[in-house]
Amino acid sequence: MKKKIAIIFGGESIEHEVSLASAAELLTHIDKSKYYVYPIGITKDGEWFEYNGDVEKIASGQWEKDEFYKVPNGEKILFNRDVDCVFPLLHGRNGEDGTIQGLCKLLKLPIVGSKVLSSSLCMDKAYGKFILEKFDLPVTPYMVITEKEFKDDKDRILSQIVNNYSFPLIVKPSSGGSSMGVSKVRIKENIEKAIKTAFEFDNKILIEKAVNLREFKVPVLGKDNLFLGEIGEIDYHGKEIFDYEEKYLKEVDNLVCPVDLSEEYKDRIYEYAKKAFKVLDCSGMARVDFFFDKETEEIYINEVNTIPGFTKNSSYPKLLNKKGISEKDIIDKLIEYAINE
Ligand SMILES: Nc1ncnc2c1ncn2[C@@H]1O[C@H](COP(=O)(O)OP(=O)(O)O)[C@@H](O)[C@H]1O
Ligand SMILES: [Mg+2]
Repeated sequence: MKKKIAIIFGGESIEHEVSLASAAELLTHIDKSKYYVYPIGITKDGEWFEYNGDVEKIASGQWEKDEFYKVPNGEKILFNRDVDCVFPLLHGRNGEDGTIQGLCKLLKLPIVGSKVLSSSLCMDKAYGKFILEKFDLPVTPYMVITEKEFKDDKDRILSQIVNNYSFPLIVKPSSGGSSMGVSKVRIKENIEKAIKTAFEFDNKILIEKAVNLREFKVPVLGKDNLFLGEIGEIDYHGKEIFDYEEKYLKEVDNLVCPVDLSEEYKDRIYEYAKKAFKVLDCSGMARVDFFFDKETEEIYINEVNTIPGFTKNSSYPKLLNKKGISEKDIIDKLIEYAINE
């Protein structure tokens, strides 16, 4: 029997636009002979609409102005339990962080991907690192600061940073995404400004050693048996960090595959990716991101993304494609895992 699938996109997140592009790609590939599709868009103000217009209008954001195909109270589709499964393509806060997962749990609706705890842990980089460390997985040296601590005890914290870390260092929001609020700091005079920038995105931030790195990504698909895609490397095109512009605004391809890396290191990356997926209690999908220190050749897990980008240029589908897993296969598997959970 044909299953009814709600596809949720947009949302109250700084990654709203990325989500639109991911949803448009999903809607292009999902097999309409197998599923009835219910696209639901959430505006940046948090209003839900059912949207049955053109996929291109979703990608461009024009769907919000398309009064003809936009039906208010899109949340009713979930509350009335009109669907068999929810496929959230919401990146970042209010979607990738356990919120929509919690709503679906209450409504007893199967949802694609990781559930509440895992989504929250992976969204909050500090908590994600606590778990990874606990299971002996390597993470870059870091320090966590809350906004309140910084307000109450600024001078002590600043001197602690200077004493414990050598420059350059990275300052970033704990629950961030798309490189928003991430700064590389070379001299101590610039730390405070970077800290303030990061606090614009979250009330908890991380200070990390800035690794002179190569960045690798591995897609994971599965529940008990995990399929791993090829390892991809990010070409920064000479930039200091893989920033928003480099990620989404340039037409150039920044994914390199196959990667120039020894089999030994590749095996270690695969082993860490599987272990990270398991210890963070992920399900369905995740993209595990790695840093490789060019000087020491150490491998670190940087973060685990539970709703990885699914746009045309995204590494998640592309690196699975290289192992013969198509977009359609990915979608079918994810829905099957969610419904049989
Ligand atoms: N410790 C670090 N050393 C060097 N570069 C880093 C470090 N942490 C982050 N970066 C750079 O900043 C980018 C974004 O940081 P990341 O932790 O992946 O956050 P986001 O969730 O925004 O993607 C990374 O892709 C990398 O280029
Ligand atoms: Mg990242």
